[in-house]
Amino acid sequence: MSIASNKFVYTGLFFLVIFITGFWLSRRGAPYGALLFNLHKLIALAAGVILAMSVYRSHQAAPLTPLQLALVAATTLVFVALIVAGGLLSAHAGGSLRGISPAMLAAITQAHHLLPYLAALGAATTLTL
Ligand code: HEM
Repeated sequence: MSIASNKFVYTGLFFLVIFITGFWLSRRGAPYGALLFNLHKLIALAAGVILAMSVYRSHQAAPLTPLQLALVAATTLVFVALIVAGGLLSAHAGGSLRGISPAMLAAITQAHHLLPYLAALGAATTLTL
């Protein structure tokens, strides 16, 4: 299997595990199980690192075009927003965000339920381009 298709397989598998553990976390609700939560969080971080390394290598081989750079920037923003929203949800579940309004909590939860699809699309497009 070529390096290019390996990248797709690894990233695809990572996203599969992230989505399965994410849906499981949502179904079971807070307090989140430590094993499931850490698996979700760590695989999400690992997927981000793999993507960043792959982008860096491509950029070394041939400088990215402005369109590719814009796509990388947008995908990075989505990843950062997911990590921030996920961190806030877990802080709330742990009881350290008691002052947050129900509307704000609902918005953060909604964002963490919708942004994963954008992240998957961004990652797939980034790897393709
Ligand atoms: C690439 C990054 C990530 C992706 C793609 C992702 C994806 C998902 C998905 C698909 C769900 C299920 C949403 C649903 O039920 O519709 C979920 C839930 C969740 N994720 Fe993530 N996640 C990411 C990063 C993180 C991180 C870094 C954390 C924690 C620091 C986190 C914490 C959570 C929590 C607590 C839930 C359960 C939310 C609930 O109770 O509804 N996620 N995630």
